[in-house]
Amino acid sequence: MGELIMFHSLWRWIVVLLIFITMVVSLIQWVRKSDWTKGNRVTPLISSIVLDINVLVGLILYVMEKRWLGGDHFISYLHPLLMLAALAAIHISYAKAKNKTSFRGHKIIAIGFLIVIFLLLSGIPHGSWSFGM
Ligand code: HEM
Repeated sequence: MGELIMFHSLWRWIVVLLIFITMVVSLIQWVRKSDWTKGNRVTPLISSIVLDINVLVGLILYVMEKRWLGGDHFISYLHPLLMLAALAAIHISYAKAKNKTSFRGHKIIAIGFLIVIFLLLSGIPHGSWSFGM
C-alpha cells in the first residue's frame, strides 16, 4: 500500500511535466500556424496514457482505503472529482484534435491541455507539493 501511494505521488510529476511541455509546444505551433500532422498525435496520446495510469492507481487506492467513507473531505471527494474531470478534458481534447489537418489541431491541444493543467493543479493535495518527492 505504501509503495502504491509513493508511486501515485511521484508519478504526478511526470503527468504535470509532460502535459505542461505538450501544452507549450502546441501553443508555439498554433502561433506559428504549423499544420497538424499525424506525428503530432504522439505526445498528446502519451500524455493521456500517463494521466490514465495515475487515475487508475488513484482509483485502486480509493477502493482499497474505502475513501468514500470520509475522513479527509478533499481526498475523499474533491480530489477524485477534479481528477476525473481532468481525465475527461484530456481525452476530449485528444479526440477533437486527432483528425485535424490545419493548425487548429494545435489550438485544441493548447487550450484543452491548459484546462487539464488547471484541473490538476486545483486537485492535487496542497500539502503534497512541499514533500511530495
Ligand atoms: C480518480 C482519480 C484519482 C483518485 C480516486 C485518487 C485517489 C487518491 C487517494 C485515495 C489519495 C490518498 C492516498 C493516501 O494518502 O492515503 C491520493 C493522494 C494523492 N493523489 Fe490521487 N487520485 C486520483 C488521481 C490523481 C492524479 C491524476 C494525480 C496527479 C496527477 C494525483 C495525485 C495525488 C497526490 C500528489 C496525492 C498525495 C500523495 C501523498 O500524500 O504524498 N491523484 N489520491
